Amino acid sequence: MARRFTYDDWMESQGIPIHRGYYVEDLRTAELGWWEDRQVDAAFMQLRGMEGVVEGRIEEIPPGHSLPPLKLSVDEQVYVLGGRGVATVWTDDARPKKTFEWATRSLFLVPRNSYCQLTNMDGNNPARLLHYNYLPIAMSATPDPDFFVNNPYSTNSFLHSTDEFYSEAKAVMEEGEGAFAGRGRQVWHGNFFPDMAAWDKLVPFWGRGAGGHVVFIQSPGSEMHAHMSVFPARTYKKGHRHGPGRVIVIPGGEGYSVMWEEGQEKIVIHWHEASCFVPPDRWFHQHFNLGRADGRYLALHPPNQFMGMSEKVTDRGRDQIEYPNEDPWIREYFESQLAERGMTSEIPAEAYEDPTYEWDYSKSSD
Ligand SMILES: [Fe+2]
Repeated sequence: MARRFTYDDWMESQGIPIHRGYYVEDLRTAELGWWEDRQVDAAFMQLRGMEGVVEGRIEEIPPGHSLPPLKLSVDEQVYVLGGRGVATVWTDDARPKKTFEWATRSLFLVPRNSYCQLTNMDGNNPARLLHYNYLPIAMSATPDPDFFVNNPYSTNSFLHSTDEFYSEAKAVMEEGEGAFAGRGRQVWHGNFFPDMAAWDKLVPFWGRGAGGHVVFIQSPGSEMHAHMSVFPARTYKKGHRHGPGRVIVIPGGEGYSVMWEEGQEKIVIHWHEASCFVPPDRWFHQHFNLGRADGRYLALHPPNQFMGMSEKVTDRGRDQIEYPNEDPWIREYFESQLAERGMTSEIPAEAYEDPTYEWDYSKSSD
């Protein structure tokens, strides 16, 4: 990619590893290096599809240690790759600090202009976290990297907008678009989700195939949002495409995803817990479950400006590939991968004949 951004220069000047390419097979074991400025072992991820839009940062806390407090001027989502600990979050005023415990596969939001100190409560094992934010975009608008770290600007309006900032998420019905038009869309509003592998409040992901289910997540008071898709063993979702910056990390399951630019060679990414990949801008991608249980992928979303058009009905013919219209290789490769494992596909034959075929979601538990 020829274009460079302020964020790229800043990132490369920090002296820690940068993971590039299409995916990181296991974020729990990805190489880190000592980051003098932040006093932590860390690495950046700049996968294809992230460039210039979102930051991905891996950090590890030694057993029983606390990291120095950090105040960023942007909201940040944190996904726990492994370990357990405590987060303490506060603002410059004398308001009480907010503290909560996190563990493997927790997802939480650190609000802008707040200090956050992370402590590893396990005396024997390190804790590793994935941090996700919109710093590249912010640094394009204000090309002064220091502006965003430990800036003395003070506000308590977001963290203290509610007494229950980190309490249980609440379901809110929002108007649906695309395949959700007329049905409404259930969105969970919250800033702390204790375990994404155990989360079971799901709704059908209409139109995307495989009988898949989904939870949409929104942090109220922030523009950050996410979704997690859950889909059954021995099935696969429909190929589709959208904008860049959706960082996908796997809370559980085993499978692979295929990504390709229209008319170009396909890239196969095998995944399991803590694998991470990012579909590049406007590349088709498709997710396949090779396990014996549900597969899950958590997608951390870029700013709304970059979400792309794939959820709008008018674009579905262009941005989603129905099963009957697939490249035959998609089905053949899936079935051969299953056969190697002594399994067969659960995609019904009708789905390959009728482009409007829909799973019977009335049988599902919700
Ligand atoms: Fe996608």
